[in-house]
Amino acid sequence: MDLAKDIKELPDSEAFQILAESPISMVLTDPGIEDNPIVYVNRAFERVTGYSASAAVGRNCRFLQGAETDPEDVRRIQQALADKTETTVDILNYGADGAPFLNRLLLSPIYDRDGNLRHFLGIQKRLTETEAQNSVNVTQHTIRELKHRVKNHLAMIVSMIRLQGRSASGVEAASSLARRVESLQLLYDELSDPSSGAGKRDGNVSLGAYISRLVNTTAHLDGRAGVRVNMDVDDATCNSEQAAKIGLVVSEIVTNALQHAFEGREEGLLDVRMTAQGDDIVEIVVADDGVGLPEDTSWPSRESVGGRVVTGLLQELRAERDVTSGPNGTTIRLKIPVTTEDD
Ligand SMILES: Cc1cc2nc3c(=O)[nH]c(=O)nc-3n(C[C@H](O)[C@H](O)[C@H](O)COP(=O)(O)O)c2cc1C
Repeated sequence: MDLAKDIKELPDSEAFQILAESPISMVLTDPGIEDNPIVYVNRAFERVTGYSASAAVGRNCRFLQGAETDPEDVRRIQQALADKTETTVDILNYGADGAPFLNRLLLSPIYDRDGNLRHFLGIQKRLTETEAQNSVNVTQHTIRELKHRVKNHLAMIVSMIRLQGRSASGVEAASSLARRVESLQLLYDELSDPSSGAGKRDGNVSLGAYISRLVNTTAHLDGRAGVRVNMDVDDATCNSEQAAKIGLVVSEIVTNALQHAFEGREEGLLDVRMTAQGDDIVEIVVADDGVGLPEDTSWPSRESVGGRVVTGLLQELRAERDVTSGPNGTTIRLKIPVTTEDD
């Protein structure tokens, strides 16, 4: 049986009708007109973007972009249009209701029979959350962010090396520095650990998990026999910039306590607590039952490099601090405002 014989070819007009109603959003622009405006949108475009045909026709498609659209994605589109090549870009767009969505945009030049460029065709697909997470663009975006962060952290390390350079002892200086770099390294472990939950792709850090990791590692490296480290941390999320600073401060306090608070003691307890107060404040309390700060010393010390590093970091974090110290030990209480990357 010849099936093809029974199949009637759809006339163009009918096929066009069907395509116009398809779930695939389509746009045609006319590059022959100033600023390459939209000359046609199908019904699906109206559904995907929330803009009616009459609101879209006559405008350049860039009206779908907004504050958080990555200029690098726009640049790639510009380049493809200038080169008259086909391209696919996942670009952040905004619907008529103002809500952002990741748009997988396929662009293609359309030529007439004589080879003249007549139109550009744009096909839009609103990506689901899972598709968006696997988007190559989003990965590239994350890598760019990461580079930016590494640069900032390296700048932090360099400024700590400079501070340390002015102080005396070489071996001690190197080991303090190594510890500070290590606290940043643990932050990267936390950022790249797939098992440690959400928030990784957006540059936010689970502060509770990070601080636990950090305190455990510090206690392991600097721990003393007979001194127990107790830890109780809530979960809280903040951006990686703040996490880096908070990590450095906690590492400094815990190391300091382990090195000096229990001098001449057989036993002791170091207690680290972090409590989330709503979404935007964390309270960190580090308490030891050791010998207390020396009489003429305040915390953070103005004399030591560690003290100066902490002072600078607490200022940048806009943290409030409250320190009590006596013969029964020292308690350092910090209240730190935190934000996440998309706040
Ligand atoms: C056919 C066509 C469809 C387009 N669709 C979109 C779109 O859905 N979302 C978007 O952000 N940009 C879209 N653009 C890209 C913008 O119209 C514009 O070309 C881009 O922003 C780069 O140019 P500009 O720097 O002048 O804004 C489309 C372009 C063409 C030609």
